[in-house]
Amino acid sequence: MSLPRLKDRLLALARFGALPGGGVTRMCWSPPHEQARAWLLGELKTAGLTTWVDPAGNVFGGLGLERVSTDAPVILTGSHIDTVPEGGILDGALGVIAGLECLHTIRESTTRPPRPLAVAAWSDEEGRYGSLFGSRAFCGRLDAAAIATMAAVDGDRLVDAMGRAGFDARRAPEAAAPRGSVAAYVELHIEQGARLEEAGLPIGVVDSIVGVRRTRVVFHGQADHAGTTPMERRRDAFLAAADYALKARDLVVDRGGGRAVTNFGVVHVHPGASNIVPGRAELVHEMRDPMPAPCAPRVQAAIEAACASLGLASQRLYSAAGHDAQNLAGVTDSGMIFIPSRGGRSHRVDEMSDWDAIERGANVLLHSLLRLAA
Ligand code: GLV
Ligand code: MN
Ligand code: MN
Repeated sequence: MSLPRLKDRLLALARFGALPGGGVTRMCWSPPHEQARAWLLGELKTAGLTTWVDPAGNVFGGLGLERVSTDAPVILTGSHIDTVPEGGILDGALGVIAGLECLHTIRESTTRPPRPLAVAAWSDEEGRYGSLFGSRAFCGRLDAAAIATMAAVDGDRLVDAMGRAGFDARRAPEAAAPRGSVAAYVELHIEQGARLEEAGLPIGVVDSIVGVRRTRVVFHGQADHAGTTPMERRRDAFLAAADYALKARDLVVDRGGGRAVTNFGVVHVHPGASNIVPGRAELVHEMRDPMPAPCAPRVQAAIEAACASLGLASQRLYSAAGHDAQNLAGVTDSGMIFIPSRGGRSHRVDEMSDWDAIERGANVLLHSLLRLAA
């Protein structure tokens, strides 16, 4: 495993959608994302891997296979190259570039694992148009009937976004992999929280991944003149939405068992002028709780054995962020390796981890893949 090569590739990928003050905005299907896809395909080929892109836009680099097939079930790793708006350079990119580095290292070595290996970059993990879109399609969990209406919060339709990138969204369900074609999945990711750093631990072995539910909530009030309408006569849609948000927070704090969380990251007020009482307000209400996707004991054991062979301490923990690994958990043995996030920061431009921590994580991934492929 070569840290300099991994570092060069991570920093090269970070150029696509780079923001002037640091960080990156690279939403799926956008021009920077499509430039990053082309760059990634070039790097996968340079590493001597076979490459293919499926109808959901998932990018693959394979060692010992041309396509996933039941003839020789693949050991899969990966993550995503799309980011949130004003995100960091590691969320997603780390798992793809470290997976590429592991396969590149194995190809350069004399080791030929009995099972084929592949690295995937899953489409739209961050869910601009639909949460965990690419891995959902690959795992046969995409609702074909919903594709026509899938859209970003700004109204941009998935069919249009994929069309601009040269894909036909209606064909995305064809990305579904044959049952039994994936022998195991393991993904490296930054923790995106502060538990590992605070415990002084280099590696987290994920035992379960949160479930996420997002609901669009619309409040109807009455638009009025913001100066002449007396306070008691107003039907302010924004204040109703704010009241709802505060009550939701209280409910989660009081009854969420310490692990459930809630967020309102999208708020629209109409007509949206400072001198009009809001007549309509829209919120996107997100709720999360850890339980729906348990990670496979076999994958956790492989990661722990890899840590032991490298002399690294590890701890089991749940993932408070959503990941493609939770879709894979529906079709194969799936698991995740976490490394510490500096200051627990993520989904922000200064998201980072130490290069030593990245090297440790990539080595644990390499040894886990070799164990699973043995
Ligand atoms: C993925 O980043 C998530 O929203 O958890
Ligand atoms: Mn993310
Ligand atoms: Mn991610």
